[in-house]
Parts: sequence; structure tokens; C-alpha cells
Amino acid sequence: MSRLPPGEAFYDVLHRRRDVRAEFTGEPVDDAVLHRILGAAHAAPSVGMSQPWDFVLVRDLATRQRFRDHVLAERAVFADELTGERAETFSRIKVEGILESTLSVVVAYDPERGSPAVLGRHAIADAGLYSVCLAIQNLWLAATAEGLGVGWVSFYREPFLRDLLGMPDRVRPVAWLCLGPVTRLAEVPDLERHGWRDRLPLEAVVHAERYPEEADAATRRIASAERSTSASVVDQFDTDTRR
Ligand SMILES: Cc1cc2nc3c(=O)[nH]c(=O)nc-3n(C[C@H](O)[C@H](O)[C@H](O)COP(=O)(O)O)c2cc1C
Repeated sequence: MSRLPPGEAFYDVLHRRRDVRAEFTGEPVDDAVLHRILGAAHAAPSVGMSQPWDFVLVRDLATRQRFRDHVLAERAVFADELTGERAETFSRIKVEGILESTLSVVVAYDPERGSPAVLGRHAIADAGLYSVCLAIQNLWLAATAEGLGVGWVSFYREPFLRDLLGMPDRVRPVAWLCLGPVTRLAEVPDLERHGWRDRLPLEAVVHAERYPEEADAATRRIASAERSTSASVVDQFDTDTRR
């Protein structure tokens, strides 16, 4: 068996992860695989070890159909805000694979889990929400490692989804995740491929010592997005520190 350099398999999964919409096959997901993926999500760090997440597995077609109708209506709401090139580009972008995927995992945040004294949340209420997002990222990476795809759908109103799945008012539905086998994981994110938005170069978002002045930050982001990224991040740090 060939041995990979330390960490290589992890970075490979990290960079292969994609948000999937069109490539779902709808084939079954093995129960043991699903269990491992959910176990990975549940292994996430959480503020005060509150573990404020719940995962609702939605396979029922009627429920998924109702949710998809709502998502398409919300897609139209967003599309109505756009004009010109943005409207034209958005019209070509698929934003969900709810019916094509095998199942959906709805991830919810319960702020009362571990309350009243959540260690580390007294000053930052959002720390509970951050914890749920980390569970989602664990799930996403584990699914990628298992050869499956995940697609995050956020074109919904929280009260609609709460009502659809019978969640109490205090609980926030944080993500509707489409999950299942895929024909392939694209190398380039869909939004980049369609010309909606590109990933920024790393040096445009890494700063030495202090947050950059707003005007300076904007200029640097545009300049580095336009530049071919031959300068390394370390070089950029050096330039920053010399200023
Ligand atoms: C909080 C969040 C919400 C998202 N909502 C949607 C969505 O509603 N529809 C969609 O097609 N993609 C959605 N995405 C996926 C992003 O568009 C995607 O992550 C981004 O374009 C980068 O592509 P990649 O994930 O393939 O690297 C969402 C991602 C995040 C983190």
C-alpha cells in the first residue's frame, strides 16, 4: 500500500469538496456510510460543548416537493432584484438539487441546548450558530471523503421550513443539505463556471497585524483578483510589513 505524505488525503478531500446541484444520481446511500457522515458532523467543536445541532433526514418526496416549490418561489424573488448582466447570468444558474439527490439533511440550531450557562457564549450569542456551521462543514467534508456530493440550499424563509418540519419557534433551520451519490464533483465551482463570481486570491484576504483600511482593502482585492497570482502569500506579507 502506498503511503501518502501526512495530511495529503485530508487536503485532497478539502479541495475536491464542491457544492453540488446538477450532478446527483439519486442512487441509494448505504446506512453505514450515512451514519459515518452524521457521526463526523456530530464530532464538530461547539461552544461550551453545547452540541446545539439536530439533523432531520428528509426522504419523503411530497415534503421535498413542497420545499422545492418554496425554493423556486424564493429564487424568483431574488431574480426580480437583478438587472442586466446579473439577471442574465443568474438565469443560467441552478440553485438546488432537491429532487435529484437521494435525501436531504436539514440542520437545525437549538439555542436552548446546554442553557442557561453556555460556557463561552455569554458575550457572543452567535457562537451557537457558528458551532452548527462547523458541524455542517464536517458533514460536507465527510460526504466528500465517502465519494458523495452535498448541496446547500438557502433560498427559503425560516418560518416556512420550521412549519414544514414541525420545529418549535426557538429552533432555527440553518441549512437544507441535498445529499447523495454524484456522477462527478466539478473541478470549478458552478458560480465561477457561470461567471457569477470568482474565488479571491489568498493574498487579498490575509493581512499582517491589522485589519486594512477599507479603501486600501478594496483596491487590493480588485488588483490581486486581476493579477496573475505569481507572488506568494509570504511575499505579500513581507511587502505589507515593510510598509
Ligand atoms: C451558507 C451557504 C448557503 C448556500 N446556499 C446555496 C444555495 O441556496 N444554492 C446553491 O446553489 N448554492 C448555495 N451555496 C453554495 C455556494 O454557492 C458555494 O459554496 C460557492 O459557490 C463555492 O462553491 P463550492 O462550494 O463548490 O466551492 C451555499 C453555501 C453556503 C456556505
